Amino acid sequence: MCSSFACVLRGAGARFNIVSTKNEKIRSVKGTRDLLPGEVYLWQRVEEDARRVFGAYHFEEIRTPVLEQTSLFARTVGAETDIVAKEMFTFNDRDSETLSLRPEATASVVRAYIEHSLYNEGRIYKLYYMGPMFRRERPQKGRYRQFYQIGAEVLGSDSPLVDAEVLEMLVLFLQQAGGVGVGQFTLLINSVGCPQCRPDYLKTLKNALEPVRSRMCGDCQRRSVTNPLRVFDCKVPGDQEIISGLPTILDSLDVECRQHFDTVTSELKQRGIEYQITPRLVRGLDYYTRTTFEITSAALGAQDAVLGGGRYDGLSEMLGGPPTPGFGFAIGQDRLITVVSEAAKQTATAPDWKEPLAAYVVWLGERAQGPAQELTRKLRGQNIRTAIGFEPASMKKSMGMASRLGARFAVILGEAELAEGKYQVKDLSTGQQEPVEVDGILNYLKARLAGPEGRAAG
Ligand code: HAM
Repeated sequence: MCSSFACVLRGAGARFNIVSTKNEKIRSVKGTRDLLPGEVYLWQRVEEDARRVFGAYHFEEIRTPVLEQTSLFARTVGAETDIVAKEMFTFNDRDSETLSLRPEATASVVRAYIEHSLYNEGRIYKLYYMGPMFRRERPQKGRYRQFYQIGAEVLGSDSPLVDAEVLEMLVLFLQQAGGVGVGQFTLLINSVGCPQCRPDYLKTLKNALEPVRSRMCGDCQRRSVTNPLRVFDCKVPGDQEIISGLPTILDSLDVECRQHFDTVTSELKQRGIEYQITPRLVRGLDYYTRTTFEITSAALGAQDAVLGGGRYDGLSEMLGGPPTPGFGFAIGQDRLITVVSEAAKQTATAPDWKEPLAAYVVWLGERAQGPAQELTRKLRGQNIRTAIGFEPASMKKSMGMASRLGARFAVILGEAELAEGKYQVKDLSTGQQEPVEVDGILNYLKARLAGPEGRAAG
């Protein structure tokens, strides 16, 4: 325990200076945010939608830890990428292991697939996940240090039909998310080739960079030697004209990669999915082979990618696993929520994702507390959302609370109701009130809640 305002925590190998002023408010960490109940309803709704749509395509959920060995990401995402070189939250644990908060989950999913020998089951694994990721980026609208992804990975097939099926599933999900969909979006697609055709392209790219390198930013000067493909990640405005003149990998694909790409695009056409071929889309992670893609939305600002993904046929081998082709995507859930909310504003009747309170039980006088509690328990037992006050309160105060909580009905019982064996049930949306036999209240509420405006049950 600290005895003074400034204290030092000492652990084996770890030493932190914690300066804290008593009574000073502690705020959330930069780039992180609290999601309050009012907004979490929509988060839950899109998670439900994802589970339903992904389930229909026979994806199964996997949950992996948020903490991983740093080397997992260095080896797969790539030591030269911004994510690994600049953005990971990395620390030495007490036993001097170097750990990182996951900046993405594809590497973790493949690690788990290898660690648990799922490849021995002789089947294709279709996995999905949702949860927080961590990147120490400069926070701005749509960019956080703790953000959330809903992602999916298919392990065990290099067929272009996998790419097409997953993109089809994504489009279906985006149309259904939140009950209103995400509105207009654009699918950008490219191929980054494979280890067979990429070396030739990288030579061409290096040659093209040679005469212009000195006019580029420091990062690009370094990347042009160490990992020239990463030059396409550059956001420095002054470099963009040079970058737009560089040769693209799409022109250097070998026959197999070209065929793969052509099959994916013709499958998309057959499925009625529109796309834009974007030859400079290489994406900020090193593990990609062949197909890469992003979906953008004009409803977002500068950070307009709602999701991104692609094929990663060599990733399993990078982690010491057997050759296992893979394909997947991750949706930025924070951004998805923004586009769904925007789309909802455009609809005639804006949806309410909140699960309303069905009943508020009002008890007047000490003798009513027990029976009120019993009724409340009975309603809750039937999954009817019910609240009850913990303190004795006047009728006025209780009814005020019922409406503040947005209850659809108030059930009122005091001495007179107890004596009569009938409680008052007031519909707070119409103001109508009637006495109902105690034993009939459950069925009465069920029937009323199942009616035209009866969204509150269950
Ligand atoms: P990514 O493009 O790095 O890909 O991230 C996917 C999505 O996560 C982005 O399109 C964006 O919507 C969201 N995102 C990324 N960083 C942030 C941030 N700082 N704040 C808010 N949202 C963010 C991957 O992570 C790959 N693992 C995708 C994948 C799966 N590829 C194959 N399988």
